[in-house]
Amino acid sequence: MKIQESDLDLNGKRVLITGAASGIGAAMAKTFFEHNAATILADRDSIELERIAEEVPDSQTIVFDQGEKESIENMCSEAQNPDILLNNAGILWAGPFDEMPSDEITKIVNVNLLGPMQIAHNIGKKMLRRGSGIIVNTSSQLAFHGAAERAVYASTKAGIAQFTKSLAAEWAPKGVRVAAIAPGRTLTNINAGILNSEEKRRMALKDIPAGRLAEAYEMARLALLLSSDVLSYVVGETIISDGGYVLL
Ligand SMILES: NC(=O)c1ccc[n+]([C@@H]2O[C@H](COP(=O)([O-])OP(=O)(O)OC[C@H]3O[C@@H](n4cnc5c(N)ncnc54)[C@H](O)[C@@H]3O)[C@@H](O)[C@H]2O)c1
Repeated sequence: MKIQESDLDLNGKRVLITGAASGIGAAMAKTFFEHNAATILADRDSIELERIAEEVPDSQTIVFDQGEKESIENMCSEAQNPDILLNNAGILWAGPFDEMPSDEITKIVNVNLLGPMQIAHNIGKKMLRRGSGIIVNTSSQLAFHGAAERAVYASTKAGIAQFTKSLAAEWAPKGVRVAAIAPGRTLTNINAGILNSEEKRRMALKDIPAGRLAEAYEMARLALLLSSDVLSYVVGETIISDGGYVLL
């Protein structure tokens, strides 16, 4: 059956995007707006959030901290009752595990794993009451093969993949579809370390058969497909989009 333009038309849908002030989340904001969704943009960075909001007319903006339970609850009540949740905000800490400050371990787990769970818990309960909704979590390619100097980050992203699968099994019968994207190395601020160094950039590309890093919009498009009826039978999967990355 031919995919119709209307299959990707999100007119009448409200989408909540976390981490919308930068990178993949900002690309999601623009892409979903271009497909007629009403956008609710949430991030901790108020200045960048307002800058992105200028490019996404009529969006609602909410400043919040995904590492703080109370802040998450306030954000979720301001966002009210979205049809789609793009549970995307996250942070990276890269370096030897034994040199990682113990507070950083707690912070990465709070922001990357507990925060998205709390958001899905709050927004998802409203979706269940309505009997419909879509949640697309942002995991990572590192969820599947791990990497040196990324132990805590990779663990949180593996947690997101398993959370996605388990929650999908529980909520699909109740009308709420849960899936995830697993980006490969994408040109965003989170990778500033790689982007700033020609040597690191070369090393990063060596393992990517596609021969380039991903653009943020390529991840946004995957999230769009998962949020539309085009991929309506994808339940619980974490879809990897990594240019064919292999760990040598
Ligand atoms: N860029 C990549 O290569 C890559 C690869 C795999 C997965 N990811 C994941 O994609 C998601 C988006 O990352 P990105 O690449 O766009 O990075 P980014 O740094 O450009 O954007 C992340 C956004 O999240 C926000 N954020 C961070 N901590 C927050 C907090 N405590 N509360 C609220 N907002 C917070 C930041 O302000 C920022 O706007 C993350 O979950 C990241 O782990 C990225």
